[in-house]
Amino acid sequence: MLERHPWPVLAWDHNAYYHRLLLRHVPAGTGRVLDVGCGAGSLASKAALRAAHVDALDRDPVMVQAARQVVPTNVTCVLADILDHPLVPGSYDAIVSMSALHHLPLAPALSRLATALRPGGVLAAVALPRIDLPREVPVELAATAYHHLLGAALTVTGHPLRAEAPVLQSRPCLSSTQS
Ligand SMILES: C[S@@+](CC[C@H](N)C(=O)[O-])C[C@H]1O[C@@H](n2cnc3c(N)ncnc32)[C@H](O)[C@@H]1O
Repeated sequence: MLERHPWPVLAWDHNAYYHRLLLRHVPAGTGRVLDVGCGAGSLASKAALRAAHVDALDRDPVMVQAARQVVPTNVTCVLADILDHPLVPGSYDAIVSMSALHHLPLAPALSRLATALRPGGVLAAVALPRIDLPREVPVELAATAYHHLLGAALTVTGHPLRAEAPVLQSRPCLSSTQS
């Protein structure tokens, strides 16, 4: 589903903004990369420019189907849950994850990812903190305003950040820890 924003100048892809941050930690020429919770495949496609091979994994079949439409040939899209997908120990040089780890029980997930990384490999992830809404309403309101202002500034200065792939709104993740 391609989304339309009522005020296009404020529409920008928050996740794409952080892709650059994550990819700065994946050295060019990296061997194998795993993207956990790859969604529609945007980050995996960018990682594929720096790596020999990328496994893009997501448990949502709609997302994996969308990713398969856009990723280059050195990306394998995997329909699986990271919590029970068999991972070969030490098989990845880097693992990246954008906006997915907060949907998982963190300790077992991180333990699995640590095992899948080679010694000295890179884990680069952006995830949302757990929020205590009653205490943090002012911060959340300020962050929402800042988000839109930054989007407007990026557009006005000629650096709009749009999703390269059609924006598929992730369906709500059922999680035992946090939604
Ligand atoms: C908010 S979306 C982020 C998608 C993408 N990384 C992006 O930045 O656009 C979170 C994704 O994590 C996936 N996900 C959540 N729990 C998962 C799990 N246990 N194993 C694999 N994927 C998972 C969801 O299906 C969803 O596509």
